[in-house]
Amino acid sequence: MTDEAAASRRLETRAIRAGRGGNDTALAPVLWATTTFVTPTVEEGRRMATEAGADRFYTRYGNPTVAAFEDAIADLEGAESARAFASGMGAISAVVLGLCSKGDHIVAQKQLYAGTQLLLQTACPRFGIDVTFVDGTEPGAFARAIIPGKTMLVVAETPANPRLGIVDLEELGAIKGPITMVDSTFATPLIQRPLEYGVDLVLHSATKAIAGHNDATLGVVAGTDELLTWLWSFAVLQGANAAPFDAMNGLRGLRTLGVRLRQQTSTAQHLAELLSDHPLVENVSYPGLDSHPQRDLAKRQMEMSGGLLTFDIVGGLEAGRVFVESTEIAQLATSLGGPETLVTHPASTTHVGLTPEEFDASGIGPGTVRLSAGLEHPLDLEADLLQALDRARGAA
Ligand SMILES: Cc1ncc(COP(=O)(O)O)c(C=O)c1O
Repeated sequence: MTDEAAASRRLETRAIRAGRGGNDTALAPVLWATTTFVTPTVEEGRRMATEAGADRFYTRYGNPTVAAFEDAIADLEGAESARAFASGMGAISAVVLGLCSKGDHIVAQKQLYAGTQLLLQTACPRFGIDVTFVDGTEPGAFARAIIPGKTMLVVAETPANPRLGIVDLEELGAIKGPITMVDSTFATPLIQRPLEYGVDLVLHSATKAIAGHNDATLGVVAGTDELLTWLWSFAVLQGANAAPFDAMNGLRGLRTLGVRLRQQTSTAQHLAELLSDHPLVENVSYPGLDSHPQRDLAKRQMEMSGGLLTFDIVGGLEAGRVFVESTEIAQLATSLGGPETLVTHPASTTHVGLTPEEFDASGIGPGTVRLSAGLEHPLDLEADLLQALDRARGAA
């Protein structure tokens, strides 16, 4: 089979074998549980120590299992190259601190994963990097905030925490000058491929849907060879390299990603519609609902609506708390994209103690709940949410 024939296959088919070209006769991903490699000659050692992505020198530089995962992501994202990290935050901090220097400027959207936002708000000023936050769902907002000659990086996330706002990838890809980066964690390459729009870097917390079983902490960035070589030089010093075992679980997750995403999307759509009609629910944010303010954009650039939805329960803080403590199938835990349905109540956990103004700015209300649909039967989940809403009614 030619490379061209393989590349013409659908991504879900490619995901089954992606990254395993160098697997010899082993069918499943091979775990290279070693920190270092015997180097045949000094000359070879010198080459391995300096060549970006060399995978047989020292595991912090590269490792064959990690390289297999990186190749798989590069293939599915349509990228020249990828680098895996110990977590999504390891990947994000490598992009921000590896590409920007003192005096540089970053444009970022305000709807971001809280860790990314904190990194930009607290670490960047300490290193002399200015950050301007914009509304990523507003047309033209990123481009308007760019300072020519000073803006080095544009940071976007889509669909975005916490209300699943969508950034227009075509608009982002048209930006010339600064490096553009999209955190595509909620989508994965099977739902959207930002590089096809001209975006420079795509990033994932592979801890989530890609590894997909809540047992691996993993991040990955994909883009051109040139940018990835630059990132690699920083990453080997940063030391947030992916563990081979987690990379193997990343490859394990990719093989079932398509079928999991289709089921989670179907369940999330069902629950979003159910909740939209419920008197104790004020509003539901889900890209698959006609009520989503960017429904048309979501349809244009996403192949599925995904497994995440965010909604507000009537009765605020107490009703939200009672709801997430009353679900029996959906479990109260911080993460997303795995087989277990999870609920979070930011106002009583990650965002506890915010003032009403701060709640408004963050897009989170006292009764906001985020739900990540898992793989349980949708009708069991429906019954679980309805009984938890009944209990929350008492607190409203
Ligand atoms: C969109 C997004 N990006 C990045 C991260 C950080 O990933 P990790 O927890 O793997 O560091 C998260 C974590 O929840 C996330 O939701």
